[in-house]
Amino acid sequence: MASTESTTRGILAEENSEKREEIIEMLKKAYWMEIETVMSYITNSVNPDGVRAQEIKESLETDIQEELGHATQFAVRIKELWGVVPGSLEFSAEQSYLQPPEHQTDVVSVIRGVIEAEGGAIDFYNKIVEYTDPVDPVTNDMVIAILRDEEGHKRLFEGFLREYEAEGLA
Ligand SMILES: [Fe+2]
Repeated sequence: MASTESTTRGILAEENSEKREEIIEMLKKAYWMEIETVMSYITNSVNPDGVRAQEIKESLETDIQEELGHATQFAVRIKELWGVVPGSLEFSAEQSYLQPPEHQTDVVSVIRGVIEAEGGAIDFYNKIVEYTDPVDPVTNDMVIAILRDEEGHKRLFEGFLREYEAEGLA
């Protein structure tokens, strides 16, 4: 892809255009992962029933905004790299593990689904971090910060799961 002004160093340099295209593709995938997570967290912050579900619902409600922020960051970075943020028709869903459970009091399946979603994001973002080092330090830095959020979130939900397991509920 041709840029109007090409730099001589870094990811915007002409010689790195192939690498830049690949990074844009990775960023698009990450963008969709975040968008789907927003959808899943909205449903799972509303659907669950019961006293035990309350904490999980509130936690997911907070995370919706965080994941939306991640999606926006990925979109902005796609544009900065001379890419085009995809339209909604290009979206295809993958989070089978975060569909509403059969019983809305089944909080454990929601917790497990969140852990799986975060685990998938962590794996993929680690890949982006490796791929962008050292050619694209800006994307690298951005994704490291997002990765930290996902790790923190996964840890929180692993703590929830641990409590359920300790009580013989999971
Ligand atoms: Fe995220």
